Amino acid sequence: MTDEIKTPVIPIVQAEDAKTAVLTAKALQKGGLNMIEVVLRTDAALTCLEAISQELPDVIVGAGTVLNAGQADEVARRGAKFIVSPGLDDGVVNSAKANDLPIFPGVVTPSEVQRAANMGLSTVKFFPASLAGGVPMLKALSAVFRNMQFMPTGGVSEANLADYLALPSVVACGGSWLTPKDEIAAGNFGAVTKLAEEALQIASNTRS
Ligand code: 3PG
Repeated sequence: MTDEIKTPVIPIVQAEDAKTAVLTAKALQKGGLNMIEVVLRTDAALTCLEAISQELPDVIVGAGTVLNAGQADEVARRGAKFIVSPGLDDGVVNSAKANDLPIFPGVVTPSEVQRAANMGLSTVKFFPASLAGGVPMLKALSAVFRNMQFMPTGGVSEANLADYLALPSVVACGGSWLTPKDEIAAGNFGAVTKLAEEALQIASNTRS
């Protein structure tokens, strides 16, 4: 299991049908983003995950909002290449490890980061980032847990992406701002591509 993340931004896809999910993933890929998290928050989420996995082999598709070990096993069967969870759960972590998939569990507090580190994890999701203290909180956690990498998610947008990415401990930011529901409902996938391109531009300005 390697949990190396090679992209500065991981967009969230929350779709009601597989066709829309694939079109959204294609639009993100066109904009330069090829690591995508499909959240298990719609009835069609597993079908969406499977469709992206089968139709877009160059996209690294993972599953988010994975809440228990059973779901972790199921998303592994459906082609997930990584697992994201809002919290730190033994069952989810153990299932991800058993399926040889990277797991990025959600943490907020020092105790949770410490627990994740002692479970052998090297990358965690900091969620909900903006409500949990944002950049100052991440700086404080990073000063203590010097080997931990963070993926802030929750309230990340074009307005604060650079602030998060400027922290050396931030491996990538996750978020739904790249997949606006209204644009997708209107079939405006060009807007998704543009947002992806803009995010990558921000990342390259910040990290160059
Ligand atoms: C998640 O699923 O990780 C969060 O809901 C994403 O938060 P955002 O919608 O504020 O980006």
